Amino acid sequence: MKERYESPIITKNISGFSNKFGMSSKLDILDNIDGVRVEKLLSEYGSPLFVFSEKTIRKRFQRYLNAFKRYYPKTHFAWSYKTNYLQAIASIYHSEGSIAEVVSDFEYEKAKKLGVDPKDIIYNGPFKKEDSLRKALRDGSKVHVDHFDELSTIEKLADELNIKPKIAIRINMDTGIAPQWSRFGFNYDNGEAERVIKRIHRNGKLILNGLHTHIGTFVLSPDAYKNALAKLINLYNLAQEKYDFKIEYLDLGGGFPSKNRLKAQYLPSAIAIPSIEQYAEKITDYLLDNFSVEDGPDLYFETGRALIDEAGYLLSTVHATKRMPDTRRAVIIDAGVNLLFTSFFYDIKILATKSYHGTMENSIIYGPLCMNIDVIRESIQLPYLTPGDNLVLHPVGAYGVTQWMQFIQMRPAVVLITENKKVLKIRRAENIDDVENPEILPEQYALVEEI
Ligand SMILES: Cc1ncc(COP(=O)(O)O)c(C=O)c1O
Repeated sequence: MKERYESPIITKNISGFSNKFGMSSKLDILDNIDGVRVEKLLSEYGSPLFVFSEKTIRKRFQRYLNAFKRYYPKTHFAWSYKTNYLQAIASIYHSEGSIAEVVSDFEYEKAKKLGVDPKDIIYNGPFKKEDSLRKALRDGSKVHVDHFDELSTIEKLADELNIKPKIAIRINMDTGIAPQWSRFGFNYDNGEAERVIKRIHRNGKLILNGLHTHIGTFVLSPDAYKNALAKLINLYNLAQEKYDFKIEYLDLGGGFPSKNRLKAQYLPSAIAIPSIEQYAEKITDYLLDNFSVEDGPDLYFETGRALIDEAGYLLSTVHATKRMPDTRRAVIIDAGVNLLFTSFFYDIKILATKSYHGTMENSIIYGPLCMNIDVIRESIQLPYLTPGDNLVLHPVGAYGVTQWMQFIQMRPAVVLITENKKVLKIRRAENIDDVENPEILPEQYALVEEI
């Protein structure tokens, strides 16, 4: 095949661009996912396309669970719905024994509809409406109280329902990392956490049986978890000894990093990110210094990102290329920030589906939106791509298909590759009716008369 000619260009030499690991000059190739060819997936399901690997989901889940269970068998995971609440995905986690963690009435209903026992739903978040709380308390779900106003509502509901429900409280604290997530829950360091325990004890309407924290996201320090655990254990002792509560579980939330790369991250992820085994050893060591497995509390995690990110791929197609006035090459693909909100925080890895010859060039990747902010990568070395070429974005399994938005474009289909390499559609591509069905066009504004 005749190679396309491109005229020579003069580029400015930008010093400081490469780092001590050198400048990446090759694009890794991914032409299949779990043995299914990317080309085949695109021709059958269209582009762009989200693809999830069941094999990766299960493998990662089992690795995470075992990393903790081998030291502390009373460890459990609760699937963080907001990370990815597609029915098929959540069901796989439930089939692995994960309970559910939700942060809204919508997510609560979604988990119940999927068949999760309400007692196996952890209900977090700062915005639980009274009706939703009433339902969760009546159902016996694990309600985690976020603030004093919520506590008052729960105490009122306990009277109304004539029950003495078990509840847990969310705690925020300084764990040595920044930024400190202090907007959710009760603060440990200023004594607020003890005040809430005291109040629950004094009012006698509720039973405190759990302590919860979620210290942040993409937390790169295993020590931060140990520090959080140390503070939760102090509260555990206080609640049991001074206030006579039996604390049945500690919940350390989510926050473990995936293998994605933060924009501000200097070192490559393979070096910067500790393994889950390192986190597990740090956490369970400290736990076992304080409890025996028999007498200790149950330990929960609400891990989202680290479990699902690697299992998700976004397949895309080059729509056009152009030369920018600053000489950078621009590539316009059919997947933008409408599908990848996460690209605002991450330099998501870009893979080719075939090998390319010739020199690599500093390029910018734009999405399809007619919006200046629609940039997938500001600066990346790319070969000479032409319309119709494919790129794979990975990992994109976390938050992609929940934070995506129907903006300018419709949302594409999502498929799952099963463990025996079958491709199943788990969400069809949207069409105009999906967007317009909830709309109401008052008669006087209708341009076309109904026939
Ligand atoms: C309360 C709570 N639990 C769990 C998670 C999941 O966190 P991650 O995806 O970082 O594991 C979040 C996410 O922000 C959260 O707010």
